Amino acid sequence: MRRCSVIGAHTSLSYSPRIHAEFAHTAGIELDYGYIETPDEDGFAAAVREFFAHEDAAGMNVTVPYKSAAAALADVLHISVGRGAAVNTLARLEDGRLAGHNTDGAGLIQDLKHLGCPLTGARALILGAGGAVRGVLDALIAAGVGSICIANRTPGRAAELAEIWDVETCALGDVPPGAELIINATAAGQSAEAPQIDPEILSGAFCYDLSYGIIARPFALLASAAGASGWADGIGMLHRQAALSFEIWHGVRPDAEAVRQTLFGRGRFIAGAGCRECGSVDSICEAYSDSGVYRCVACDRLV
Ligand code: ATR
Repeated sequence: MRRCSVIGAHTSLSYSPRIHAEFAHTAGIELDYGYIETPDEDGFAAAVREFFAHEDAAGMNVTVPYKSAAAALADVLHISVGRGAAVNTLARLEDGRLAGHNTDGAGLIQDLKHLGCPLTGARALILGAGGAVRGVLDALIAAGVGSICIANRTPGRAAELAEIWDVETCALGDVPPGAELIINATAAGQSAEAPQIDPEILSGAFCYDLSYGIIARPFALLASAAGASGWADGIGMLHRQAALSFEIWHGVRPDAEAVRQTLFGRGRFIAGAGCRECGSVDSICEAYSDSGVYRCVACDRLV
């Protein structure tokens, strides 16, 4: 039995154990994937050491708020960690040292490509300037986006990123129009809010939310009402980064899309539900099970 775990805050709510259990099932690997919650950075470091002291420990996923701490703890950093210094995957090397990887960036790019989002040469706008953004900026730039503007509630945090990466910055209330890809990386959804932006800027853009599930709903509704060309939450990115981590630990790359569809298939119709936008009955389906985001197939709006 191989052992893996996700470690961070609120990990009991994480979808990772379900995803990795399904990956292991399809790969025929016996895996015990658990979750560990730690109160602070000292507790985090101690829990990581204790975990890897076990002979059967294969690896850990690290989530908020410890991705920077994980980078500091790793003995070696894989090239995927880059300038962001955010590690979401820890693996034990044969000589016992701990390697830090970042699979978030590649997971995001894979999902954006899968969704047909504009990437090469595209004008990208990122809302938010926290740890999640640091983990994906290198990958977005490597994917060939034309320009990146980072808009944040606290302008100073966006300015810190502009010291590391070649990006524009602006205040949330002062976003220039014309972005083709807009990524919501704010934590506003955790308070059931969308970021305070002029909805006009979302019109015609593909809107992607790094969060997933019910937290992504406020931005989804804003994007849909503003006439965005498309919307997706980060459930696809979650599966793809998980598949990359799985491959690092077990040497097998699972089919992330097949598992996403098994666990969170789109298009489940809600019998008898009417659309409050266009009035159609029986036209509502759940965009992702348990996201609380619904699509009306009659008027193609998220409701
Ligand atoms: P994460 O690791 O998920 O990125 P974080 O580092 O705490 O978490 O960053 C959260 C981001 O969401 C920040 O950009 C934060 O803006 P501030 O830098 O101004 O704090 C942003 N954020 C949180 N709540 C928000 C809200 N209600 N509206 C807009 N932005 C918000």
